[in-house]
Amino acid sequence: MESKFKKLKEEAIMALKAVKDKIDLESLENKILGRKSGELTDLMKELKDMNAEAKKAVGQIANEVKKEIESALEQKKRELSESDWQKSLAKEKIDITAPSLPPFERGHFHPNTIVQRDLEDLFSSMGFLILDGPELESEYYNFTAVNIPVDHPARDSQDSFYIKNHPNWLMRTQTSSVQVRAMQKYGAPLRMISPGKCFRNEATDVRHEHTFYQLEGVVIDENINFGHMKGVLEIVAKHLYGKDTEVRLRPKFYPFVEPGVNGEVTCFLCKGKGCRLCKETGWLEILGAGMIHPNVLREGDVDSKKYQGFAFGFGLTRLAMLKYGIDDIRLLESGDIRFLKQF
Ligand code: PHE
Repeated sequence: MESKFKKLKEEAIMALKAVKDKIDLESLENKILGRKSGELTDLMKELKDMNAEAKKAVGQIANEVKKEIESALEQKKRELSESDWQKSLAKEKIDITAPSLPPFERGHFHPNTIVQRDLEDLFSSMGFLILDGPELESEYYNFTAVNIPVDHPARDSQDSFYIKNHPNWLMRTQTSSVQVRAMQKYGAPLRMISPGKCFRNEATDVRHEHTFYQLEGVVIDENINFGHMKGVLEIVAKHLYGKDTEVRLRPKFYPFVEPGVNGEVTCFLCKGKGCRLCKETGWLEILGAGMIHPNVLREGDVDSKKYQGFAFGFGLTRLAMLKYGIDDIRLLESGDIRFLKQF
């Protein structure tokens, strides 16, 4: 009798191992423990006919067997009800000693873009609009509208790339082409900058390139004077090169401003003492500026009696070269990955 119980237990445990799902488990449970005809139930019934002493001994074993089978069934039930993700999680482990993946190479901005974005942030903090203008431009916006008529010598100093069979179209030579576009679109008062690519037909060398970047600015309002202009330019200079930086404005002719100036800042390398970078002058030329010529305001449909304004143009490419100590302008448009990787 005793061995019958033990055998039943072994068989039950074996059968349980093979169980794969809840349905199998349920039928196995029925087969062993079922009230009417379970194998264990039947065996238990046989105990009734035994004498008291044997009943006591075997009964104990029978109870133990029953308990063991029940707990094995219970355990299997729990295993089967764990969800798939719990199972795969239990199997997973992280080997913290494994070598990491090779570093993921991230892209980054071109030096021109870094300088441009920095200035865009500064100017938008002062309430300037940031405008775009077309690179393929009409002769009108690039020259005529900014007070450079057809026979003006300034046209020769800014030779560009013209479009075959379209003599009135060219690659813009300066971002000043956006001045009148902006006035016509937004009117006065106006506060805007417009950074972007410019093109000139140059014989290239370390200081000249056919493609480069400028950042134009225009401020128009009532009672705007030269002092406002100098104030804005000083803010930019100090932002770029530190609070001790000074701005020097000296007269220079540009057809679209009157008076016009050429703007320099204290050389950040020698602090004004004179060095190779500033060609011993102590100053670095970085911009052109001036009070907007009434002809240009009129061209932009701005009432030149009521409004005044100033305009400025930074050499963005030049700023990037100064910032990073780049001594050959041609590197910037070269697309040379060895150069670009350094920024
Ligand atoms: N457009 C001028 C240049 O390319 C710079 C400039 C802009 C000067 C605005 C005065 C005012 O040289």
